[in-house]
Formats: sequence, structure tokens, C-alpha cells
Amino acid sequence: MFLTNIKVLAVGLAVIAFYTIIAQVIPQLESEVPEALDLSAGVTPEVLVTAGEDLFMGGAGCTSCHGLGTRAPNLRTDHAGEGTIGERCGSREQGCKEYLYESMIDPGAYLIEGFPPIMPDARRQLSNEQIWAVVAYLESLGGEVTVTADDIGASASAPSAPASSGAAPARTATTDPVQLLTENACIGCHQLEGAGAPVGPAFDGMGSRISADRIRTGIIDPEAEIAEGYEAFAGMMPATFGDQLSAAQLEIIVQFLAARQ
Ligand code: HEC
Ligand code: HEC
Repeated sequence: MFLTNIKVLAVGLAVIAFYTIIAQVIPQLESEVPEALDLSAGVTPEVLVTAGEDLFMGGAGCTSCHGLGTRAPNLRTDHAGEGTIGERCGSREQGCKEYLYESMIDPGAYLIEGFPPIMPDARRQLSNEQIWAVVAYLESLGGEVTVTADDIGASASAPSAPASSGAAPARTATTDPVQLLTENACIGCHQLEGAGAPVGPAFDGMGSRISADRIRTGIIDPEAEIAEGYEAFAGMMPATFGDQLSAAQLEIIVQFLAARQ
């Protein structure tokens, strides 16, 4: 009887261990909104960098502009012979982390030559902790990570910090079509009212060229049908908007674009 109990217990533990390992191994699915971080006390640079990298490569949407080599300066690789972002940020007046933090919360303050001012204010989407994690990650790309828990605490209480610091990102809240197209960086690649960059087909007149259904598919699954005349740009449009937008937001965008005659 005793032995049987031990066996049952052993099998139970083995099963739990097995699923714990599986859970670690399977890549985590990207959630719609980046998870809130608690990096307040005693956070190590390694934890910050890892969290920042996850945000940069995933939920924060940075790679829809950075890394293509055309829409925005490269950060992970050389830009203009000045090196990766961690190497070149030190040459700015303020010091590296201050410059990077400012680049994210006030992108218009210092514009990199040759690029349009299309970068969104990261506070719309990320908490203060998350922004500092991304700063730490950017510093780690060729430089020394100097972000500490003190930075996070200090700026969180500064008057310029967003009221919603630490709360869920505001990104999912808006239902204004033009704001949605701005926040999701669509107009970094599609022209609206003649403004923006002509990387993909213009939003102006889109409703007279293609149906609402085709617009919807074009957003959720860009590779399903490539826009006529843009075959060379296939694969450029991020395929992540289906996850990033709520169903209601997607419909608002589809109807707005279908109405562009
Ligand atoms: C809509 C496109 C777009 C998105 C999305 C975007 N950026 Fe940018 N970013 C730009 C452009 C264009 C510039 C250059 C003009 C400027 O300085 O604002 C830039 C500049 C920067 C710089 C300064 C680069 C340098 O060489 O000094 C940093 C740092 C940066 N972005 C980080 C980020 C991070 C981190 C994210 C994600 C949270 C992000 N960006 C999302 C377009 C974008
Ligand atoms: C990095 C650049 C880029 C971004 C950001 C981007 N797009 Fe695109 N988009 C393209 C390119 C290039 C094409 C044409 C190739 C293709 O069909 O995949 C395209 C195609 C489309 C199409 C299909 C048009 C057709 O004629 O079939 C729609 C609709 C569209 N984009 C909407 C959007 C919306 C809405 C957003 C923001 C939520 C967005 N795009 C963000 C580059 C981009």
C-alpha cells in the first residue's frame, strides 16, 4: 500500500515536471498587449535587457519600422557608419540612456537626418517600466547597460511621466480611424491625404480600387493577396496587425479605408 502511494506520487511529479518543461520550451505566444512589468526593486540589467528585447522584437511593434533599413535608422546593425545604437548613443549630448529614453517619449525632439517624423510616442503603448527595459536592451546593442531601478523610480514620479504609467497601454483604447492608422504606423508606409510615405499602395482612393473584404484580408494576412503593382514589396507589410488590433478596431479601419474614394 505504502509503495503504491509512492509510485502514484512519483508518476504525478513526473507528469508535472514534464509539462513544466514543455511550457518553458514552447515559445510563448505574443499577447495582444505587452504584459505589465514589475521591475521596481533590485532589478538586474539582465532582466531588463531580456524584457526589453521581448518588447522590441514583439509587442512593441518597433521592428515594423526599425530593421527594414529604409523606414527608420537601423538600431541592431550599423546606421550611417556610426555603429549599432548602443555604440552611437554615447555621442549624444545627454548621455546614452537619457538620449534613448527621450527618443522614445519625445521622438520629435531630435530627428535623425533623412527620416520623416513618423515615430510614435512609446508612452501610448508602453508603461514607464517597459520603456526603460527597451532602453536597457538598446544600450546592450554594442554598449554598456547603465539603466538601474533608480531611473525607473525617478522618471515614474516626474511630472512629465504619463498618468497611466504602469497601467495597461492606451493603444487599445482609441476608436478614431486616423489615430489608429497613426499609432499602428500604417501611415509610415501608406499615404493618407497625400501625406506619409508611398511604400505600399496609398490609402487615398483605396475604396475605389479594392473591396472591404480585400482590405480586411490585406491587413490580417498581407501575403494572401499581394497588391497589384507592389509584388516587389511582398512580405514588407507586418503580418502582426491581426493580433495587435481588436476586432472592433480592425472593422473601423476597414470601413474607413473602404470609404476612401
Ligand atoms: C512608424 C515607424 C517607427 C516605429 C513604429 C518606431 N520607430 Fe523609432 N524611429 C523611427 C524614425 C523614422 C526614426 C528617425 C527619426 C527620428 O529621430 O524620430 C526613429 C528613431 C529612433 C531612435 C533614435 C535612433 C538614432 O539613431 O539615434 C530610437 C532609439 C528609436 N527610434 C527606437 C524605437 C523603439 C524602441 C521603437 C519601439 C518601441 C520604435 N523606435 C518604433 C520610426 C519608428
Ligand atoms: C512596413 C510598411 C507597412 C506598414 C507598417 C503597413 N503596410 Fe500595408 N502594405 C505595405 C506594402 C508594401 C503593401 C503591398 C504588398 C502587399 O500587398 O503585401 C501593403 C498592402 C496593404 C493592403 C492591401 C492593399 C491591396 O491593394 O491589396 C492594405 C489594405 C494595407 N496594406 C493596410 C495597412 C494598414 C491598415 C496598416 C496598419 C495597420 C498597414 N497596412 C501597415 C506596407 C506596409
